[in-house]
Amino acid sequence: MIGRLNHVAIAVKDIASASALYSDTLGAKVSPVQDLPEHGVRVVFVELPNTKIEFLEPLGAASPIAKFLEKNPDGGMHHICYEVSDIRAARDRLVAAGARVLGDGEPKIGAHGNPVLFLHPKDFLGTLTELEEVPA
Ligand code: CO
Repeated sequence: MIGRLNHVAIAVKDIASASALYSDTLGAKVSPVQDLPEHGVRVVFVELPNTKIEFLEPLGAASPIAKFLEKNPDGGMHHICYEVSDIRAARDRLVAAGARVLGDGEPKIGAHGNPVLFLHPKDFLGTLTELEEVPA
């Protein structure tokens, strides 16, 4: 069911210095900063030949990554994202198997303009797992 690894996300306190680290020190291609107020984060994507790295910085007081950064003040790996061709079919199959979908269970539009869902880390090896619908 799952396809390509779309991205690995790293939560950071300072997205500008994270971007500089990856562009200057690691020599990677880094996107401009994008604010996603409906998700409570600012994001940057690092384009790698085979996948992407996503930086997440808290945006607003109720950011869902604020608590994570309290526990991981240096930043840390936050989630992984796999591509699926039909996100509602994927969700229905996972829910039938007992997996928990975060939020109201309905896909939301993510940073790439595609529908996304998050699966509970306790059901997926302690790893917050995102699914993104990418047309085949
Ligand atoms: Co993501």
